Amino acid sequence: MQELRSQGYEITAVPHLGYQLTGLPDKLLAFEIKAGLKSKTVGKNIIVMDTVTSTMDEAFRLGMEGCCEGTVVCAETQTKGRGRLGRVWLSPKSKGLYFSVVLRPTLPLNQLALLTLMSAVALAEAIEEAGRIKPSIKWPNDLLWEDRKLAGILTELRAESDQVKFVVVGIGLNVNTPAHQVIAGASSLKIAAGRSFNRVEVFQSILSSLEKWYGKLLHRDFLDITEAWKERSSTLNKRLRLTDPTGTIEGEAVDLDEDGSLLIRKDSGVIIKKTAGDILLLR
Ligand code: BTN
Repeated sequence: MQELRSQGYEITAVPHLGYQLTGLPDKLLAFEIKAGLKSKTVGKNIIVMDTVTSTMDEAFRLGMEGCCEGTVVCAETQTKGRGRLGRVWLSPKSKGLYFSVVLRPTLPLNQLALLTLMSAVALAEAIEEAGRIKPSIKWPNDLLWEDRKLAGILTELRAESDQVKFVVVGIGLNVNTPAHQVIAGASSLKIAAGRSFNRVEVFQSILSSLEKWYGKLLHRDFLDITEAWKERSSTLNKRLRLTDPTGTIEGEAVDLDEDGSLLIRKDSGVIIKKTAGDILLLR
């Protein structure tokens, strides 16, 4: 009984009768995810693991071994989940979606920022469909709900002599994570919507949306991507402070360039183009 309970089965003792199964474990099972999946490439090959250091490590290993495009690795928990800029990504067991997708885009390195933006748009659209809440996107790819982070995206790649071998897009989404298990300043779908979600359905919706938006990227429909990103942006027209390895600048985010860079107008009127960095919205 203890063993079943530890696997997530809810078992209630009924006086004089015995035990009743009152809840099934909330587990990600590959066959269940595949059963209702609408996408053809993204998630066709899906590996579900219980505990990993980081799904990025697993996906990278598979990418190096030549796995097919759209291979997805997900885990119930990660012991060393990582975010952008060396940050930690908390992965409470069976509460969120933590996964990495291997893509093999035929894009020059200088267009890869668009891949990150398209992933944010795809994720936001899927969350809106599955969760009936409309997240905003903080540049470049944090998904926020009421200024609190719901999800983050990490893009890592393998390139040889300016040629992209493969890209790993890692997504962490707080789904049924209760308030006491999210990092300060963060949120979850459950906190935002006030109800729990079926993680498999949310996952399927994200994988289909990723396939749709990735298709646009491959067809060079860059304007569709940047327009959709701008429509959901919580960064544009805001005053911000951006920090990157070259230093810190303050100004107003005036636009998104066609290659996915952020255009910031400093108080002097000079417009600076940034492809990476960490931003703090000032008002
Ligand atoms: C960020 O907000 O800085 C990006 C967070 C990315 C987290 C996901 S969880 C799945 C994948 N594995 C990781 O170790 N990181 C990404």
